[in-house]
Amino acid sequence: MILPIYLYGQPVLRKEAEEVPADYAELKQLVDDMFETLTVAEGCGLAAPQVGKSLRLFVVDGTELKEEYPECANFKQAFVNPEILEESEEKIAYSEGCLSLPGISENVVRPKRVLVHYYDIDGNEHEEWLEGFNSRIFQHEYDHIEGNVFTDRISPIRRQFVKGKLVNIAKGKTTPKYRYKRN
Ligand code: NI
Repeated sequence: MILPIYLYGQPVLRKEAEEVPADYAELKQLVDDMFETLTVAEGCGLAAPQVGKSLRLFVVDGTELKEEYPECANFKQAFVNPEILEESEEKIAYSEGCLSLPGISENVVRPKRVLVHYYDIDGNEHEEWLEGFNSRIFQHEYDHIEGNVFTDRISPIRRQFVKGKLVNIAKGKTTPKYRYKRN
C-alpha cells in the first residue's frame, strides 16, 4: 500500500522516535509499504516518521543511483533500531534532498564514513562500515528518527535562504507529485 508522506510542518517529523519493539507484528507489512511508497515517490530513503510512525526504522534504495555511485548498486534494505557507533573524522559535502521537503536541495557536510549497528527485518544483528553515498543516505535517514531534517545542518546563511521554502511547504503552497499528508 502506498502511504502518504508527511511533509515539513508535521509534528511527527520533529519527535525522537521510539525503538521498534522486538514483537512488533506489523513490521514486515510496514517495511513493504515503505518500500512501495519510496519507489513510487522516486526517493532513495524513507524513514518511519515520514509516514507518520514514530519508530526507529528506515528503508533505503540506492539502486537507481548506481551509475553515479557504484557503492549503491546493492544498497536496498531496511534498518531496524539503527545506531551510529563511530564516525570518520573526514567529512564530505553532498547535495541532499528529502521527500518531506519537496523542492529543496542543499549541500550538507557530514562524516564520510560511519560504523553502524542495526537489525534487519528478520531480527538478525549487523555491524558494518558504510562508505560513500551509502553512508550519506544512512545518515540522512538516521536524522529523521532523531527528529531532525537536513536543513538543520546547513549554514545559517543557507538556512535563511530556504526558510521561505519551508514555510511554503508547511502552508501548502508547495505540492509534491506523490501522495502526501499536510495538516
Ligand atoms: Ni529525508
